[in-house]
Amino acid sequence: MKILILGVNGFIGHHLTQRILDETDWSVYGMDLSDDRLGKNLQNPRFHFIEGDIAINREWIEYHVKKCDVVLPLVAIATPKLYVEDPIAVYNLDFEMNLNVVKQCVKYHKRVVFPSTSEVYGACPDPEFTEDESYLVVGPIQKERWIYSCSKQLLDRVIYAYGTRGQVEFTLFRPFNWVGPRLDSLYAAKEGSSRVVTQFIADLMLKRPISLVDGGNQRRCFTCIDDGISALVKILANKDDVCKNEIINIGNPANDCSVVELAQKLKKLFMEHPNHRNDGTYSEILEVSSLNYYGKGYQDINTRTPSIEKARRLLGWEPAVNLDDSLKMTLYSFLEENEK
Ligand code: UGA
Repeated sequence: MKILILGVNGFIGHHLTQRILDETDWSVYGMDLSDDRLGKNLQNPRFHFIEGDIAINREWIEYHVKKCDVVLPLVAIATPKLYVEDPIAVYNLDFEMNLNVVKQCVKYHKRVVFPSTSEVYGACPDPEFTEDESYLVVGPIQKERWIYSCSKQLLDRVIYAYGTRGQVEFTLFRPFNWVGPRLDSLYAAKEGSSRVVTQFIADLMLKRPISLVDGGNQRRCFTCIDDGISALVKILANKDDVCKNEIINIGNPANDCSVVELAQKLKKLFMEHPNHRNDGTYSEILEVSSLNYYGKGYQDINTRTPSIEKARRLLGWEPAVNLDDSLKMTLYSFLEENEK
């Protein structure tokens, strides 16, 4: 199988590439703006990388959509701070650019495996979000945070409509707060614009206070990237066509945790690390308002728990890595790479 991954150097892209090259005989064709996370895979004869921007290299993309069997358009802005700071950029990249790729898949009848998001469920009140039943609930237009959720939702709907009319074959997967090595760049975290796990790790490394937005009682189910990638490989293999035109949550409901518990856990793990065992005390855990932290366009999601019955049933998949191990793996890799 030939797989085209746009955004191959991203968090999901580079982990997926590594697993495919290690465990299958498939080939990967990939484009990204840089290659710093791809390491030794760049030398693998089954990996074909080109450095470039998907907004510019349209001919390369069209040629490779035609050439490959499956397309994963993984390029997106996925950090809430940027949803409120630059909603137009989120719309342009996450919706318009990806729509172009989806249309190429329609044109050449290629299978598209598209990253939807847990964010499409928004503030849905269901105790567990189910792919084919839960309502997708977002806030008012002034709360610009929701532009990401809406961009992804509309693309989900477009892909679904093409799919059910026989014009493309698709699987939509919905990651629920995947975490792991090289989640976000530490540079983004230094600027205060990365997802919560990287943000807290960067705060600890820089000896800055940890900010709990609006008290930190919001909950997320953090999912180890290794589990996420195992599910994705099964989706790509698509044995007996089980994932054809399906939407699948990929998360770990057992790893449900509040943001304040997350801060305490990461701080404890950090202080126990050999590099920091003898440090004094720092990185006080402080409450900040979402208005001060993100600005007036932000609104939060209090609970976000996936139902994974469908993933279990279709893929025979079960997440295996618990919360503490997922956080430890993420933290230790950041420390190893940045405190050499
Ligand atoms: C994320 C992002 O939208 C995407 O990466 C993705 O689509 C999706 O969720 C997912 O991974 O499932 P969210 O979980 O809200 O959204 O993003 P984080 O930035 O990781 O924030 C999690 C929680 O921590 C929020 O309640 C936020 O307010 C809080 N937070 C964040 C803090 O309390 N302090 C911080 O310094 C940063």
